[in-house]
Amino acid sequence: MIRAAITAVGHFLPEDRLTNQDLEQMVDTSDEWIRVRTGIRERRILRDPTKATSYMAARAAQEVLQKRGIEPEEIDLIIVATVTPDMFFPATACLVQRDIGARRAWGFDLSAACSGFLFALATGAQFIASGQHQKVLVIGADKMSAITDYTDRRTCVLFGDAAGAVLLEPALDSEVGIMDMCLYCDGSGAEALCMPGGGSLNPPSYKTIDAKMHFLYQDGPTVFKRAVEGMADVAAEIMARNGLSGEDVAYLVPHQANWRIIEATARRMGIGREKVMVNIDRYGNTTAATIPLCLYDWEARLKRGDNLILASFGAGYTWGAIYLRWAYDGTRVGFGMESEAQLSAS
Ligand code: UT7
Repeated sequence: MIRAAITAVGHFLPEDRLTNQDLEQMVDTSDEWIRVRTGIRERRILRDPTKATSYMAARAAQEVLQKRGIEPEEIDLIIVATVTPDMFFPATACLVQRDIGARRAWGFDLSAACSGFLFALATGAQFIASGQHQKVLVIGADKMSAITDYTDRRTCVLFGDAAGAVLLEPALDSEVGIMDMCLYCDGSGAEALCMPGGGSLNPPSYKTIDAKMHFLYQDGPTVFKRAVEGMADVAAEIMARNGLSGEDVAYLVPHQANWRIIEATARRMGIGREKVMVNIDRYGNTTAATIPLCLYDWEARLKRGDNLILASFGAGYTWGAIYLRWAYDGTRVGFGMESEAQLSAS
């Protein structure tokens, strides 16, 4: 059986920071409220109005290519998980394909909000496992500032802009790669977290603009309750299915929506704080980008064979967990079929 393995990680973070102190000047909030309720201190904002999600996604993809030492023409498939595509169509994946020069690749966007990266990783892995493709780029990218109402304190303190990307390739052996996945959706939660305007139900009009329907809406406490249950349940489920205890897990790689949700998941898994990837304090909730951003930040500490549990909960509702065994040590560039000699010669 062919397993898909992550063989490189890339990212893009805009330089501009929006701190809790900045937000205190914009809405009726406080640094303390934001930190205690969410764990967020600052987030990044892509302020250049000429740049959108595809720009960040393409930069993250280019970093993956550079770290893996491969040409854009080698990419077979590009999947972009996003809820903030540059346009409804064409797909952001097509814009990324053009911008990075991945001439042989096909691609599409995948909409699963905060679970977008997990769903895209699961989808990309099937093309590797089937033998259809050798190199699949999976990107999670969102310019959340484009759909955030900066007069609404309930949501504007939560989100940031970023992109994260990974390359999927056939694992060299069955010891590493994506081992299992549990994925769910429940559309009964659709109205609790959504952007009501702009689609075919509420096409743009003066009325939809006046009603602020082109900004994201969230019933925070309702989503919070489901997210705590959903993420903890699914993490526990995938561990039980694979006979893993807390001790077997090297890291939990959780979606970064709220520190309290992450903490509840870790407690349920029986793992300590040191085994949880958390960067919500620096980037806020970047929707589809949170999980690959964590992998990027922790990459240097990861070792071949490390058991990782990726878990998410988001709009839809969508949620899930992926169990994978990490495929390479540290930030070693060029994991793959080549020998070390070939790599140093290239
Ligand atoms: O990423 C995809 C999935 N999303 C999530 O998982 C997010 C889930 N939800 C949450 O993380 C939390 O519900 C929030 C962080 C969004 C909100 O935290 P909360 O503890 O659920 O607060 P709340 O909405 O119940 O609000 C508590 C109080 C309210 O005031 P009253 O009614 O008690 O007087 C709010 O008006 O805090 C008020 N409040 C704020 N105060 C200061 C809400 N937002 C703010 C704010 N600053 N930014």
